[in-house]
Amino acid sequence: MELAVVGAGYVGLVTALVFAQLGNKVRVVEIRAKRVSDLKAGKIHFYEPGLGEILLRHLDKNLFFTNDYSEAVSKAEVIFICVGTPTRQGRADLSFVYAAGRSIALSLKERAIVVVKSTVPPGTNRSLAKKMKKLAKNSFEVASVPEFLREGRALWDALHPMRVVIGAESKTASKKLLALHRPLPGKRVICSPESAQLIKYASNAFLPMKISFANSIAALCDRLGADVEDVLKGVGLDKRIGVDFLGAGIGYGGSCFPKDVAALIHLSQRHGHNFRLLKATAKTNEAQIDYFIKKIIESCQGDVKEKIITVLGLSFKPETSDMREARSIPIINELSRLGARVRVTDPVAISEAKGLISTVEFFKDPYEALTGAEAMVLVTEWKDYQMLDFKRVKMLMKEPVVLDGRNIYNRKQLEKLGFVYKGVGK
Ligand code: UDX
Repeated sequence: MELAVVGAGYVGLVTALVFAQLGNKVRVVEIRAKRVSDLKAGKIHFYEPGLGEILLRHLDKNLFFTNDYSEAVSKAEVIFICVGTPTRQGRADLSFVYAAGRSIALSLKERAIVVVKSTVPPGTNRSLAKKMKKLAKNSFEVASVPEFLREGRALWDALHPMRVVIGAESKTASKKLLALHRPLPGKRVICSPESAQLIKYASNAFLPMKISFANSIAALCDRLGADVEDVLKGVGLDKRIGVDFLGAGIGYGGSCFPKDVAALIHLSQRHGHNFRLLKATAKTNEAQIDYFIKKIIESCQGDVKEKIITVLGLSFKPETSDMREARSIPIINELSRLGARVRVTDPVAISEAKGLISTVEFFKDPYEALTGAEAMVLVTEWKDYQMLDFKRVKMLMKEPVVLDGRNIYNRKQLEKLGFVYKGVGK
């Protein structure tokens, strides 16, 4: 099939690569000229395992990049809108989606299907179609196929979806979208665009809710002397609950959860529903930073002023350079505000982090960053940090104090080596 993708960000690029990989002809339109020239040269502006190889495999064969909407859109049977929907005071800002729609409308092929992949509130398709109809000469339909990929595993997730949700008004559109997705595994959910969009928001609200629940149980474990990992394993083994996303720690960040939770709270409010559960989810997540900072202060004998504290990991999770809503930022800012001398290290996110945090010293090598440190704070559970040589670390640090924000280390092993260890709920 001839396809167009609007927006070469995370979702757009992965969508384009996956459909190119499945044998379609894909043209990507992106308004940032630098991004287009980089992609044409085979360069991707963010770190995501595996994407580079697929890009090179399909570039200029069945995958093309352009700044020109009509070049990308005029022959496409299906056009994916994959532009950002940032939060403005909790509300999803749809201006990029509408702008994309208007530009698409001018070049549409007869009976094209415009698929909104960006996360948008239910009802967006109708207002988008209305705006587009004013400009379009040809007939078209607006459908919704939300994206559920995780950063760091984007390619795997996009090629092995657990489900493909197709929200379309007409049978013709759902049939065509089913055909396009046929090579992919996963159950199909065929529904209205509104339901599809709510499925996306509800999923991105439910998982954070599990995480905030886990963190609340962890706080109880800290007080009761129970181990949150044992407790939540025991809880999660009930299939109705499930073990995934019950990882206690410093809470969730990233480009989706915080934004989508805020957007769903806002959407609910706008429609007269007070989504108390979700508000508590967000509040619990915010409070988790203070909770963890208190642990750091306690472990540093009540004061972090002038103490050298090394933060391991900056990105919001491993295997990505993405710093959006990364938990490292509020933790580092608070430690700096309290007068600590903060050192930071990360395998890939340092250059992205440099624009966001300035009060710290950056290190490439974790061992160098830990030399002379009075506390080590694990924020992002990169493999490199899971496999640290703690005998060496013990010799390098001034004070052997480990704060484990992701509960990845073995308390007994570290204590045996002479470390003071604090996790979250264990
Ligand atoms: C998420 C959803 O998983 C994905 O389906 C959706 O399309 C986009 O949002 P992503 O943001 O890439 O994906 O990361 P994810 O792996 O879900 O983690 C999000 C945050 O939650 C991270 O900060 C992570 O550290 C945190 N997390 C995750 C926990 O704190 N505990 C857990 O048990 C799991």
